Amino acid sequence: MKHKIIFLLTLLLHTAVYSQQNIDRYIPETDPLVLLKLEQWQDLKFGLLMHWGPYSQWGIVESWSICSEDEGWCRRKSENYTDYKKEYENLQKTFNPVHFDPVRWARAAKEAGMKYLVFTTKHHDGFCMFDTKHTDYKITDKKTPFNTNPLANITKEIFDAFRAEGLWTGAYFSKPDWHSEYYWWPNFATPDRNVNYSVNNYPERWEKFVQYTHNQIMELMTDYGKLDILWLDGGWVKKRSDDEVKKAYANMNTEKPARIQNQDIRMDELVKKAREKQPGLIVVDRAVYGKNQNYLTPENTVPGEALPYPWESCIISGGGWSWTAEAKYMSGRKAVHMLVDIVAKGGNLLLNIAPGPDGRWDEGAYKLLEEIGEWLDINSEAIYGTRAIKPYKEGKICYTSKGKNKIFAIYLLEEGEEIPGEISIGGIEIPRGSRIQILGVESKVKWRRSGDYYNITVPKDKIPSCLAFTLKINLMR
Ligand code: GLC
Repeated sequence: MKHKIIFLLTLLLHTAVYSQQNIDRYIPETDPLVLLKLEQWQDLKFGLLMHWGPYSQWGIVESWSICSEDEGWCRRKSENYTDYKKEYENLQKTFNPVHFDPVRWARAAKEAGMKYLVFTTKHHDGFCMFDTKHTDYKITDKKTPFNTNPLANITKEIFDAFRAEGLWTGAYFSKPDWHSEYYWWPNFATPDRNVNYSVNNYPERWEKFVQYTHNQIMELMTDYGKLDILWLDGGWVKKRSDDEVKKAYANMNTEKPARIQNQDIRMDELVKKAREKQPGLIVVDRAVYGKNQNYLTPENTVPGEALPYPWESCIISGGGWSWTAEAKYMSGRKAVHMLVDIVAKGGNLLLNIAPGPDGRWDEGAYKLLEEIGEWLDINSEAIYGTRAIKPYKEGKICYTSKGKNKIFAIYLLEEGEEIPGEISIGGIEIPRGSRIQILGVESKVKWRRSGDYYNITVPKDKIPSCLAFTLKINLMR
């Protein structure tokens, strides 16, 4: 008995500490316009992420092969780094995605049920997919063959097309820039992903980098219509106090040298300026603890539990973040189950599709989107505008809720699983007189209480999808 109590107390303490840590990771916003927008963003549930640039021509991992860290995703095909980097930069001269058709993408995303878009306007390699005035390493420069195409300002075309279909638009922007001499100064070698000179010794150079970053982001905020999200990647570019720098060095694995410095790009000032142009703008300074990270972004994973702050899982749908030859896409079943799981835990799914070098999406991507769209056509009510509700997920059943009177229980069907004639749900209270219906099926279903559970009869032959079906429970209050 004593042991049991100690065990329970320890468990409680763990849970309390864990939840506290979770909440501590998030600093709520105070700007009422941003708060409103974040609330609306949490209704959207499903978005599209795209990684695209000259690197797509080689079907390699975006940007990382010009970084000298000895990580799997940085490995390059060439023996000689210097030659490789030159060839990599020359990719600009052959990038000509003549089949680029943003209107078709936007339509497919909309039909799939996606409600927002995040596009790589600039990845770590520094190549700009927009018409910036501040570098010639860009899609609209005369060295890039696509510059003469009427759709040359790719970012603008994409934002316009998706906005026209009613989607929100978001700019992915990498804070580190491996092409800028203000970040990787050619005077020094480039040992890793960080700024390669001492910011303390060369403050004027760093200041130029800060100005460069501010100028580019302000171009995006000013010349590209209404923007909803600024999604900043490269969390190592951040302000660090002297103490933090010292601590980071102390914890450093010396075999993997990292140049940890205060890389302050004056985010508060930048965000203030950005919101003057784009009131209510959601800012996601990824992986940087503080109020400029309006939501958190677990990367290519789905958290095991509901999280007590706004969040979004970004997930690869096939291949890598950027285009790879013969990418295998996840099944519609997997995507739908993932979306449901995420929504039940209170998050959004940002699904990545990688455009190919010629400006096309793989057929596999379209097929996947169609399958998701078909399911959402029937079950959208259980997804959009819902909020998480305990017990979130129990076995094959995920719960969502809308207002006080509606609960949805979504049953995830495995491949080849026979639809059950009856299911049992627990963990929620269904008062007598409540009505239960299956989305896509007109007639009401029978249910009865059995102890702490409710047994619900499922009209097996009428279930409209073999991926998952939804019980809509209208609670009698
Ligand atoms: C990873 C990759 C990066 C990519 C990001 C998307 O951090 O290294 O290249 O942009 O995931 O979330």
